[in-house]
Amino acid sequence: MTSPTIVAVCGSLRDESYTRTALKYALEAADRAGAETELLDLREYDLPVFDPDTDAADRGDAPRLLERVRRADGVILGSPVYHGSYSGALRNFHDYCSFDEYEDTVVGLLATAGGGSYASTLDHLRITVRSVHGRAIPHQVGIRNAADQFEPAETAPDGRAFVDSDLEARVDRLGRDLVEEAKRLQTEPTDRRPASADD
Ligand SMILES: Cc1cc2nc3c(=O)[nH]c(=O)nc-3n(C[C@H](O)[C@H](O)[C@H](O)COP(=O)(O)O)c2cc1C
Repeated sequence: MTSPTIVAVCGSLRDESYTRTALKYALEAADRAGAETELLDLREYDLPVFDPDTDAADRGDAPRLLERVRRADGVILGSPVYHGSYSGALRNFHDYCSFDEYEDTVVGLLATAGGGSYASTLDHLRITVRSVHGRAIPHQVGIRNAADQFEPAETAPDGRAFVDSDLEARVDRLGRDLVEEAKRLQTEPTDRRPASADD
């Protein structure tokens, strides 16, 4: 069995993004569980607004970004809560994706809210991941009141430590569960996998 590759896609373009920090924690947990990990920071990719009429040559960095997603065994999608849903940046990335990227790929979901509710964001992510046949795992993470959840810590990811150890444990578990599920999928006979749906 080879080490699974887990990538995380951050749907916030903000320099001081709490979502990105939380994703780094999840990736660290995945790394400890035996995965190769990479953060795919959408700020580093030229990703034009998706237009089905454009061909690959006019899609900026989309081909090389999608290649990384396609090669991954697991993807963690993290988004800020924007108007009760997920961010336009993540949506634009997601519009480029299809079955080719997500078939036989396990997916972890994380949402970060400025206020108190994140459920609709996680639900919207789960539904759209299903539509490209991604296998979203049951464990997911919502972070409410994001600005209150971190405190300065020099050696921590982005120089920030979680204030609440239970929340940190939930984020860690996201990385760990995803690796476990990716490893399980590597050993699952292909004829036991559900036939591709037509919806
Ligand atoms: C356009 C926009 C819409 C937002 N909508 C919501 C919202 O509906 N509910 C909420 O709790 N926070 C909302 N927020 C606050 C963000 O969820 C919050 O600042 C979050 O920490 C941003 O994530 P980030 O730190 O990763 O950028 C919104 C922020 C922006 C910029």
